[in-house]
Amino acid sequence: MTQLIRHSAAGIRAQETNHALSTTPLPLPADVDQMRLWDEHHRKYWHSEERMKPTPLAYLLADRLKPGQRILELGCGSGRDAVHLQSLGHTVTASDFSEYAIRENARLQRASGVRFLLQDLRMSLAFADGVFDVVYARLSLHYFPDPVTRDIFREIHRVLRPGGMVLFSCRSVYDPLYGRGDELGPQLFLSDGQIRHFFSESYTRQVLTDSARFTIDDLVIHDELVYGKRANVVQCLAHRGEG
Ligand SMILES: C[S@@+](CC[C@H](N)C(=O)[O-])C[C@H]1O[C@@H](n2cnc3c(N)ncnc32)[C@H](O)[C@@H]1O
Repeated sequence: MTQLIRHSAAGIRAQETNHALSTTPLPLPADVDQMRLWDEHHRKYWHSEERMKPTPLAYLLADRLKPGQRILELGCGSGRDAVHLQSLGHTVTASDFSEYAIRENARLQRASGVRFLLQDLRMSLAFADGVFDVVYARLSLHYFPDPVTRDIFREIHRVLRPGGMVLFSCRSVYDPLYGRGDELGPQLFLSDGQIRHFFSESYTRQVLTDSARFTIDDLVIHDELVYGKRANVVQCLAHRGEG
């Protein structure tokens, strides 16, 4: 059964995990509210056909999975990849910070069996240590300044079982949007109201190995279509050591 679980900031802090993220306040104009922006985005494009199709990254993940894996998706948006992976026999928890997205997923995808959860990635993940085999994040980890990004990868490492796998993609420094708008920090830009942190290959290797001790299995940088427009992304598969 599909479940909608709410986590307020206080609720998440109250979890047993003692991993409060060291979130760094962003030097943002007062009117930039990323949550509101994403809610509006989801509301506007929710029913477009494109947003219901599973993505190539989800197919790639599916090919790599053993049967019956416990998967956590971060920034699931329309839930298309989560629903696809669950339909293959895996147990998927799919999270996003957009209340609209989580509410509509819980309503429309009730029969899928996916567990939908409200989770802001700037907060500690609301799970105990080592409870997932796989963490999956398509285009949802490139919205944060460096210290927050590193905390997020530490959290991913924490919730993965030893040997567990992470697959994610992020906009790269070769993306057409790179350099647009106001520069807020290293490789961090604000344009059209949205904050994006563009990943280079060396940065990706650094956050995975320095901050969280992952072993990288595969890292590619390529063009792909995002919302019908050319984007350039870093795509990375890594695993947590057995220790
Ligand atoms: C480009 S969309 C990708 C959605 C989905 N993964 C896909 O590929 O269709 C980025 C997603 O990240 C979510 N997101 C952005 N910032 C977030 C945050 N701080 N915490 C959790 N989710 C966030 C957005 O609501 C949105 O659903």
